[in-house]
Amino acid sequence: MNKIKRYYFKEIDSTNEFAKKISKETSQDILIVSEKQTAGKGRMGRSFYSPEGGIYMSLLLHPDTTKNPLDITVMASVAVSGTIESLLGVKAYIKWVNDIYVDNKKVCGILTEGSFNTEKKAFDYAVLGVGINLFRPKGGFPDDIKSIAGSLTETGKAGLKERLIDVFLENFFEIYNGGRDYMTEYKARSNVLGKNIEYIKNGIKYKAKAVDILNSGELLVETENGMQTLNSGEIKICTESII
Ligand code: BTN
Repeated sequence: MNKIKRYYFKEIDSTNEFAKKISKETSQDILIVSEKQTAGKGRMGRSFYSPEGGIYMSLLLHPDTTKNPLDITVMASVAVSGTIESLLGVKAYIKWVNDIYVDNKKVCGILTEGSFNTEKKAFDYAVLGVGINLFRPKGGFPDDIKSIAGSLTETGKAGLKERLIDVFLENFFEIYNGGRDYMTEYKARSNVLGKNIEYIKNGIKYKAKAVDILNSGELLVETENGMQTLNSGEIKICTESII
């Protein structure tokens, strides 16, 4: 079992917020896990539905100067999808940049936050937040997300949650410490490459084709006006041909 210091909560507002709070008091890497969150945070100011039955965890990290914010997110996506596959025997795909899909449903979201020191070009600290919809929530998912969200399994299997956390930590730290060609894995798990997509940049909607994922984690897309690289935001996969 990974030796990282751990905090466990029955309930918390947000494990990411807790990690940010304690970042001021420690230079250690720490794992925070909660059984549910009352104010789970998603990307782009959205909330993350966090009832009992899911895994809500944040890693407080102190990355070296070789890592940028996108790297951590990409590494975590590879670690989570590999963990899901090995423990649940289902194929897990990555929708750029960091949503994990099983059977066309989003089963995991990742939110990396932190304090990036632009002068030092390094993190003061980073918080990697991972939310996995493990068991089906009682009463199902709320209306606004029920067409997108899915859970990994219907009912509780003893020890599965703990095992998922431990295997995720093994996978993540192996990648984080330089032990794996994670970009090759990331691309192999992509459900976006070669697909027609839509994205919004500076308030304008563009149609494009996803061509490649660069080592930086950026998405290379072909548009009517040539190649573009995307480094943040959200894309939509389209079924009809666009360009
Ligand atoms: C997203 O899909 O928009 C990202 C969701 C990230 C959710 C996780 S759950 C653990 C951690 N604590 C939070 O408040 N958010 C992240």
